[in-house]
Order: sequence, then structure tokens, then C-alpha cells
Amino acid sequence: MEYRLLTAQLGPAGEALDTLLAYEKAGGYQALRKALTGMTPDEVVEEVKASGLRGRGGAGFPTGTKWSFLPRGVLPRYLCCNADESEPGCFKDRYLIDKLPHQLLEGLLIAAYALDVHTAFIYIRGEYRRQRLLLERCVEEARAAGYIGKSVMGTDFSCDVIVHGGAGAYICGEETALLSSLEGSRGEPRLKPPFPAVKGLYGQPTVVNNVETLSNVPHIVARGGKWFAGIGVERGTGTRLICASGHIQRPGVYEIEMGRPIRELLEEHCGGMLPGHQLKAFQPGGGSMQVLLPKDIDLPLDFDSVQKAGSSLGAGAMVFMDETACMVNVSMRLVDFYQHESCGKCTPCREGTYFESRLMHRLEAGQADKAELATLADICDNMDGKCFCPLGDTATWFVMSAYRAFRDEFEQHCGAGRCPVSMPATGSHEDLLMAGSLL
Ligand SMILES: Cc1cc2nc3c(=O)[nH]c(=O)nc-3n(C[C@H](O)[C@H](O)[C@H](O)COP(=O)(O)O)c2cc1C
Repeated sequence: MEYRLLTAQLGPAGEALDTLLAYEKAGGYQALRKALTGMTPDEVVEEVKASGLRGRGGAGFPTGTKWSFLPRGVLPRYLCCNADESEPGCFKDRYLIDKLPHQLLEGLLIAAYALDVHTAFIYIRGEYRRQRLLLERCVEEARAAGYIGKSVMGTDFSCDVIVHGGAGAYICGEETALLSSLEGSRGEPRLKPPFPAVKGLYGQPTVVNNVETLSNVPHIVARGGKWFAGIGVERGTGTRLICASGHIQRPGVYEIEMGRPIRELLEEHCGGMLPGHQLKAFQPGGGSMQVLLPKDIDLPLDFDSVQKAGSSLGAGAMVFMDETACMVNVSMRLVDFYQHESCGKCTPCREGTYFESRLMHRLEAGQADKAELATLADICDNMDGKCFCPLGDTATWFVMSAYRAFRDEFEQHCGAGRCPVSMPATGSHEDLLMAGSLL
């Protein structure tokens, strides 16, 4: 069974609630009213802490704890919703914006109230033009109804919301690069510390939260942190929106209670692998994460369990691959993505992804010799943990985990003159960018 929390208000066939009227009819903006009229900002933060909510943007950092890092009395401070969503295989934030844009706005406004923020931003990926226009329309609807602007719902809380479109760069999802881009500079990461909570947008205290993270907030305020903490597992509360793609019968976005087995997602929700094909490998957290194997299919779907197995739930993209997927080909295409998206600021990432990509192309075409596999491992070793931001580190994770798990397959390519495993997939870099079409 799918668990409906974030998607509870959708119609039976997943019909969107993308107008203010429809959202209000379904009980929308009542949680904002409750927060503004019945709770202090600190009480809202405490509820979010009690809920155990962890960030859905990739790192899984506890949201209430992040909120409490803002230094008291330093104003102005800012809130940025991260809607950059560029992880290969990830499309859940787009789904949430398409289906329930006002749920995100309500979460954003409650968070702004809790954090004493009076200007909040939504930084949205450049390619999500339709979603940006939708959000802009919803902001205007909410402003006209008194949910955004001066004296929200007649209270003394005021907040403006600005929707800002990116220009299509994966690095701008990294929170400090996002802030640089929002300020009008080149989207490059900044040194941490200082963390954004202390010195963020325009040098002021700033919280960056993912779309899905903020969409949970109205539910926590409406029904209480303790109630929310009862869903899922101890260190993985609530649900996850999983973007399932690859060689499966029913790709799509599924809302799953944390802690359910991955097998349930694959077999019940996604209808299993394509007829006549077997699971060979899967990526549990999008293009950045390490490969998992059929033996891992009964793992509970939560942060800690997947991490213990050597990978990460990341941004919630689950890519299932059958025996026709060549691990060298998939690795090559992911490496190409990272090479294209490297911002160039630091040498290990800029040069490393270039050499990685060049070598992977030789290997995939069957032109590399076995000694070059050691070179590949050496390049990755000189990148992982040595880059300025995690983009460069993660450019090595899939390829090295695939090399360890499918060493024979990598070796078979050496000197073979062509890819010996399967017909290479025909997807292009654009497919990767559009997410969900990795294979
Ligand atoms: C290269 C890179 C890309 C990222 N892209 C995104 C993204 O598109 N959306 C997102 O929410 N977080 C992304 N993150 C994580 C953010 O830096 C940050 O941790 C997150 O937005 C915090 O929100 P959360 O606490 O609600 O998860 C990315 C991180 C890195 C290193």
C-alpha cells in the first residue's frame, strides 16, 4: 500500500490541487493559521524537532536542528527553498510542485514564521519553466488572499515570497552555490564553515530546505510532531517520495512509509522488472549514489539501513537495472554528466572528471587495457574526499562501487574492441538531465 501523507489531498487518480480554491477546500492553509494564531515561533521549531523530520534534499540532516542553528537576534535572515532538482533519476520535487504547489508555499510560510524570516525564496531549476510559472501564479493567488505579504492572515507576521529561476546547472542545487547564484554571482560552492545558518544569503543567517522537506511542515504543525514521529522508523520518520525508474513495469513517483522493504516498492508499486528480465543492480539515491545488488532488495527503505549497506537514499531516486544494462556504459554516462556539470572551481573535480570521462569512453568502447583500470581507481582516489564540494566526490561513487561489484564486467571490456555485455543504451546527456531516463 502506498502511504498518503504529502499526497493525501490528491484525487483518486492523482488529480492535482493546483489552485488556491482547491487547496483551501481540502483544508489548505489551516496549519499556517494554527501556527500564526496559536503557536510561538519557538513552539513550531520544537514541533519540527519532535517530528524527527530529516531533510529530503540528499544529506538527511535533521530539519528542526538546522532551524535552531540560526543565531538569535541577527536580522534580516532568509529562507531558501531548494527546487533545483537536477540529480539524475530524480523528479519528485517537480511532482510536488505540479500537484500541490500551495502545500509547498504553506510549508515555506510556516518555516518563515518559525525562523523570523520576512523574505523567502524558491530557487527553481531553469528547465522547470512550467513549474516556475505555476509557482508564480500560486504566489500571486496566495498574496491576493492575504497569505503572503504584509500582516499575513491579519496577524503581525509579514512575509514576501520570491520565485527565482536558475539557468540549468546541477551545482546550483548545492546550497552555497545556490546562494551565490541567487545573489547574481557564478553558481560556485563556498567554503564551509561558515555554514549558511550563520553566514548565508547576502552574508546573513539563512536556511536552505528542499521542496519535499518543506511540504512536510504543514502536516507536522497540523497533527503534531509526536504524531509524525509515529510514522516510519525511529531515525527515519514520515514518508519518502521515491522516483522509480529504469527497467520496471510502472515507473513513477510513489509515496512510501519509511522503513518498508525496497522489494515492496519494486514488486507491488512498480509491478516488478520488465517481463522476462531479472534485477541486476539498482541505485537507491540517484546518480550520485553507490550501486546496490539483488541481495540488498529486502533492505528497509530508510536513511540508516541504506547507508549501512554502503549507499545512500540521497534524493529519493531509485533506478532499477536489469541484465541488459552494461555497468561500464551506465558508469560512463554518469561520469559524462558529472564532467559536464563540474563547475570547474577546484582542480580535483575539474580535471578528475575530465580524465575519468576520457578513460570511461575508452573502456566502454573496448579500447582500454587492464592497466587502465588501476588508473581509473587512482583518478577516483584522487577525487573522493579531495574536492571542494561533494559533486566531485560523488562523481566517483557509482563508478567505483560498480567496479568493485562487477569487476569481471569491467575487465571483459579491456581490449574487447566493443562493449561485450549488451547493446549500449542509446540515451543522451539530455536524457540524464531530464531525469528518470537514465537507461
Ligand atoms: C552537487 C549537489 C547538488 C545538490 N542538489 C540538490 C537539489 O537539487 N535539491 C536539494 O534539495 N538539495 C540538493 N543538494 C543538497 C543541498 O546542498 C542541501 O543539503 C539541501 O538543499 C538541504 O535541504 P534539506 O535539509 O531540506 O535536505 C545538493 C548537494 C550537492 C552537493
